[in-house]
Amino acid sequence: MLANLILIGFSLKFVCGNVADVVLSCSLVEEGVGLSGMTGGSSFSRAPATLVFRDVAVASDESLDLLPPFVAPSLLDPDAIIIEAKESCEEHFPLVPPPQSSSPEVPNVEVLLHADCNDLEVTCEMSQYSVSKALRRSDLTYFMVSISVEAVSFSVTLILQTLAVLEPSTLTQSKLGLPLSPTGTLPTEVVFLVFSQRNSISARLRSDAVLHCSFRHPEVPPEQEVAIGWRLQHKGKGWKVLHMETRLDEAEPRAVVHEERRGSSLNVTQVVDGDASVTLTKLKVRDEGSYICSVSLGPFKAQQIIQLHLLQPPQVSLSQQKLVLKAEPQTLSCHCSEYYPLDVQMEWWLLFPTDTEPTVSEDQGSLSSHRQHGDGSYSLTSQLTVPSTATPGTKIICKVSHRALSTPLSVSLVVMSPQTNSYWWIVGFLIVTAIFFYQVMN
Ligand SMILES: *[C@@H]1O[C@H](CO)[C@@H](O)[C@H](O)[C@H]1NC(C)=O
Repeated sequence: MLANLILIGFSLKFVCGNVADVVLSCSLVEEGVGLSGMTGGSSFSRAPATLVFRDVAVASDESLDLLPPFVAPSLLDPDAIIIEAKESCEEHFPLVPPPQSSSPEVPNVEVLLHADCNDLEVTCEMSQYSVSKALRRSDLTYFMVSISVEAVSFSVTLILQTLAVLEPSTLTQSKLGLPLSPTGTLPTEVVFLVFSQRNSISARLRSDAVLHCSFRHPEVPPEQEVAIGWRLQHKGKGWKVLHMETRLDEAEPRAVVHEERRGSSLNVTQVVDGDASVTLTKLKVRDEGSYICSVSLGPFKAQQIIQLHLLQPPQVSLSQQKLVLKAEPQTLSCHCSEYYPLDVQMEWWLLFPTDTEPTVSEDQGSLSSHRQHGDGSYSLTSQLTVPSTATPGTKIICKVSHRALSTPLSVSLVVMSPQTNSYWWIVGFLIVTAIFFYQVMN
């Protein structure tokens, strides 16, 4: 019993002991009304805003001295926009089931917590979010917040719902017309979020890729429908990739899946757990682009954009394995094949027998035009004319640089003089003659 108590005490301290506030500078984006003027288009206005995630559980080895809690300015400012999103600590406590309305945990919050010290640029934009008429309540306001940390390819979109201010101050926020809490903030809770742990990935042609997209929500009735849509946008065109609808009913996940791109799939069991990642098999060049993952749950809908880049390193070879000088000039070809994207650099280098380091050849030969294969990859050939006057023993190097290669790839051969060639003929002739005489003598 005592041991139990100590254990509980320990895990309570471990999980709830360290909480910190994550403070982000954001902008509140509003569509301008009647400000469009001559242009006729809609204009957007931006106002600075602060987003505070309160009491986020952090690792027990975090030094809290370096993470002071957020303190709202002592003078209440009706022009300041400070949105507070609360994370309840109990939610992390494994022995207490989360209350029905617990708001979902914000993913990767450690990255946001240390973004400043690690010099990671965090982009944060918020706007008011309108839910469908049927579910609209006059006393609730929603915000949609998009946060991204480009350096680590992480992005998240949150939907925040205002909480009733229990003891409202006499002030209202001037821009939003919402009552401020006694500390001058707008308290909210996270009601839905969609995120991607890797919103930019590279993959090889013909390989398979998983595009990550997840969502989190408070406890919802299991009969709640979730709809997931994946679309591809590339160079001004759009395609449907996959669409699915299912109930968040773990016992018997039944789903309606429309697979528009052949070889695209979602795992229904994982969708029920909040993972909407799509797997694409046998990638082709036309799969490249921006994928939009949209998740709709009840009145909420949010999306993430995941970039897929295709990269295929070239295969490089020379037209022949050896080159023996002749009376007339000869052509040496360097083939660079099945690479993607198109940009490739081919260079001829020479290493003279008297040198230790190769130098760029003055003659860079001539390039064929790019050829495109059925899978979208490219091939290119460079032809170099080797004059009959070339110095025997010279090493000819074909060097290829491409985005899919970390270091340039080289293939080479050594120019041989015709003498070397006839010398081997003579040696061969002598050996054959010797064998012949040896056999005759015996
Ligand atoms: C779907 O996900 C579950 C849980 O992660 C796993 O056990 C199962 O093998 C997956 N199914 C497929 C078809 O990949």
